[in-house]
Amino acid sequence: MSQGVSHATGETRAAGETLTAEALMVPYVDLVSDAAEQAPAGCPMAAAPDEVAEDILYYWDYLHLDALLSAQTPKSAERGGLVHDEIFFITVHQTYELWFKQILVELDSVMTIMSEETVAERELRTVLARLQRINEIQRLMVAQMGVLETLTPLDFLDFRALLLPASGFQSVQFRLIENKFGLLERDRVKVEGHNYAATLRGDHAALVSMSERAPSLFDYVERWLARAPFLHADEFDFIARYRQAATEMHAAGRAKIAGNQNLDAQTRDTQLAAFERSLRKFEAVFDRETWEEDVREGTRRFSHEAFTAALFINLYRDEPMLHMPFLILTALVDIDEQLTLWRERHALMAHRMLGRLTGTAGSGYAYLDETAKRYTPFKDLFDVSTYLLPHSALPPLPSALFDRRELALL
Ligand code: HEM
Repeated sequence: MSQGVSHATGETRAAGETLTAEALMVPYVDLVSDAAEQAPAGCPMAAAPDEVAEDILYYWDYLHLDALLSAQTPKSAERGGLVHDEIFFITVHQTYELWFKQILVELDSVMTIMSEETVAERELRTVLARLQRINEIQRLMVAQMGVLETLTPLDFLDFRALLLPASGFQSVQFRLIENKFGLLERDRVKVEGHNYAATLRGDHAALVSMSERAPSLFDYVERWLARAPFLHADEFDFIARYRQAATEMHAAGRAKIAGNQNLDAQTRDTQLAAFERSLRKFEAVFDRETWEEDVREGTRRFSHEAFTAALFINLYRDEPMLHMPFLILTALVDIDEQLTLWRERHALMAHRMLGRLTGTAGSGYAYLDETAKRYTPFKDLFDVSTYLLPHSALPPLPSALFDRRELALL
């Protein structure tokens, strides 16, 4: 006969004996009241009055700890034998969901600001601070995988079957983050041909579908970049000046390979051919039609205007007026990168936990790994580096460009 050890009492229980959520709470509550009884008078732990006056805010009540700390109810306990690690497993998931919620709060506020017709510099500071907060939370989320990995695959097996068919695949908040950030349905990896929302409860599926159709942070950022006034300034044709500088730089690069006496003829030809191939990537920036074809094929996502603005901001980021937009673009790349790192870390964790078995939603390591490779809504911002020029080759900007008031209202 299988037996369970109650962590509340240390007593062994026969299988089938139900352990209630209240019983699970006992040790911690006991601990608090024992400490209070033994504490010397004057110590903050000394017994407090049973009732706290209603108008005095009490820490425990403010944080709704009654609800929060009694929300860990292991299935193994209900089924007759508490498995110690299941409480840990639930706590780790709940912690993630709390952080997901905070990310959504920050994302929503950033999107509200970015949805305005003009975004003043003061507001850009708020946007940056909130994007950076999201990024710090994400770093914690990646590191937290290490905490989860203290659960060994063998111990996971003791309760894994009880979780079926629930899966992180059904994390509604995670889907909302993905959609609000800008992941498109068409770019998602299908699990056995099914839509990612197929296993969600009706109200959750509706919420996720609504977030799919609403403008995303990607859409707002693209619109914000595309209306940047410097791209249409009479006094400075950015693309023409940039093209000239890039052509001069490339001519110097080509001449350097051609004149390298240390290379034999065949190596020189191979290097020159590779050089010319890499230059072709530049052409799309100069030619809107080529760019739009790339967008149609799905290799790029930003509009031509938005991308050239992002390039301009990156090239001239030291101009005080462009510094804040530059930091915002950097924060977006950081968020995309951390989300990818989370996906990779989660995929590796799932691999070591399950091996080649599928997860509770029917997919496994290969699927998770594929999502890490493909899901980068802001990949165009990563690609900006292809087109950077060294400081020495940058065309100088006319000072009149930065006198224009509307630059402060990007
Ligand atoms: C023992 C721990 C875990 C294992 C073995 C595991 C395994 C898996 C597997 C195999 C999938 C693919 C779908 C499926 O077949 O179920 C998945 C999806 C997912 N899991 Fe986990 N997971 C674990 C912990 C977590 C935690 C702590 C979170 C945080 C909330 C999480 C969030 C997710 C999310 C959001 C997805 C959907 C990913 C996507 O579709 O791109 N998982 N998990």
